[in-house]
Amino acid sequence: MTSSSAPGKIILFGEHAVVYGRPALAVPVTQVQATATVSENSRGGVWIEAPNINLSSAISQLAPEHPLVAVINSVFTTLGIARPPACTVYLQSTIPVASGLGSGAAVSVAILRALSAYLGRPLTDAQVNGLAFQAEKLYHGTPSGIDNTVVTYARPVYFVKGQPIKTFRVGASFTLVIGDTGISAPTKESVGALRSLREADPTRWEKIFSQVGEIVWDARQAIERGDTPALGELMDANHALLQEMTVSCTELDTLTEAARKAGALGAKLSGSGRGGNMIALVLKEKAPAMAETLLAAGAKRTIITTVRAR
Ligand code: MEV
Repeated sequence: MTSSSAPGKIILFGEHAVVYGRPALAVPVTQVQATATVSENSRGGVWIEAPNINLSSAISQLAPEHPLVAVINSVFTTLGIARPPACTVYLQSTIPVASGLGSGAAVSVAILRALSAYLGRPLTDAQVNGLAFQAEKLYHGTPSGIDNTVVTYARPVYFVKGQPIKTFRVGASFTLVIGDTGISAPTKESVGALRSLREADPTRWEKIFSQVGEIVWDARQAIERGDTPALGELMDANHALLQEMTVSCTELDTLTEAARKAGALGAKLSGSGRGGNMIALVLKEKAPAMAETLLAAGAKRTIITTVRAR
């Protein structure tokens, strides 16, 4: 039996504009995890058991383009295994689905690592990242690749689509409270909606994406020098541009406003928006009170996470 876990993630800055070549910053969230466990079975064939989504099936009974089947088959293809041994891939996840926390990427990474280890030939990080990106395309249409990258490498990432992974220095630890609207919002839809807007007026949108790119660059420098107040202001500015991109929603705006009123240094939606999660930057000692504020303002759950100096 082999097991592997992968963390969730949050995007600190630059979601959506990252699809159009601008940089973005993301960090792993280890409080939530997806775990894949692979064990031998006696019923024959390769099975998936995923109680969270009520799935229990031989992969031969599912469509080959089902993302979980595609991930499993990609391991066999990459390792040149024509006749896979009878085994069951058991999935457990505490990462809410379609909420901007990278659930799909974490499940893919956990399967890729657990299954390749079970077969005695663990994939490299680069292989895991590449195969998880293929699965992301099945989940999300035209993703940038940021989710699979931060989840595979499980460290802060300064990401530019198509470029080798870069990390960044964190000058001083900072604390975020993540607030979940509880609204499940598929990435494919918000990315698709923005794509249509951009196609109708590329000049306007490229200008907005470049403004986001500048915010991301300034945020990276603020993180590196440990300037938390500046970071908060940049979060507010990024949220305003995300609103302009039509990817916020009433619930996300209510939570970000409530966070600011309660003393957050800054707040923004995180991920693809139109539901999912927001993040509020707070002094560490104020995080539990901020979590209460967000719950009172309608958040369905909260996570407190600290990005440590490194
Ligand atoms: C989703 O976590 C982030 C988006 O920028 C999409 C992507 O980068 O693939 C909205």
